[in-house]
Amino acid sequence: MRVFVVHAHPEPKSFSGAMTGVATEALRAAGHEVVVSDLYAMGFNPISDRGNFTTVADPHYYRQTDEEAYAAKRDGFAADIQQEMDKLFWCDTLILQFPLWWVGFPAILKGWVDRVFAAGGRIYGNGRWYDQGIFVGKRAMCSVTLGGPESMVSEDGLNGPIDSLLFPINHGILYFTGFSVVDPFLVYAPARIADDERQKYLARYRETVLGIGSAPTIQYPGLEAYDSNFVLKRA
Ligand SMILES: Cc1cc2nc3c(=O)[nH]c(=O)nc-3n(C[C@H](O)[C@H](O)[C@H](O)COP(=O)(O)O)c2cc1C
Repeated sequence: MRVFVVHAHPEPKSFSGAMTGVATEALRAAGHEVVVSDLYAMGFNPISDRGNFTTVADPHYYRQTDEEAYAAKRDGFAADIQQEMDKLFWCDTLILQFPLWWVGFPAILKGWVDRVFAAGGRIYGNGRWYDQGIFVGKRAMCSVTLGGPESMVSEDGLNGPIDSLLFPINHGILYFTGFSVVDPFLVYAPARIADDERQKYLARYRETVLGIGSAPTIQYPGLEAYDSNFVLKRA
């Protein structure tokens, strides 16, 4: 496998840091190739604006998707974005490693998506989305640390079901661009559990990343299941 890990945690000694360390070591030892974008260590700029481009479609009014479509035809993406796009096209498996912050991505990872996942047929668009997306054939998985216990994100839990919390990422970003989405790997309250529990999580994570190529994926309906108003057809 060619695995691309996008790592979004400011502290190398965090549990997220330990997880990316375990994944990288286990995958390489098994003969797989691994590339890590450690967004904080890279000083990745998450601000999406004209700096995304070397080209300008309209100097008077900034419409990001129009600029993306223009740049897509002219190789007009800034070098830091182009490098991340190249890694996405290189990989067959994407892992997003992040702590759940305000029920979603840390801003640096949201900014990475805002800037790198460009329209105009580069990462999506021109009819390329969902099961006809650019990344069909590739797999992706969220690897997430959370602050609270599992019960808190259960069906009736206080913070709402984890599948609903992660739907915008799994469906709205990963499946949207064509990835087959592997069930997320979730670590509950790593700061509050005993060290042997943490070691168990890391051992399970090692097995998960080694098996990611054949792990079950979330079965979302394909485009043909929706009508012309993008509403699920009922039989
Ligand atoms: C800005 C911020 C927002 C957070 N929001 C959430 C949240 O919405 N849900 C949650 O379960 N934990 C939340 N937490 C707790 C972190 O998810 C938790 O501390 C982290 O996952 C622990 O793992 P780590 O060692 O990898 O940082 C938040 C923490 C911070 C700093």
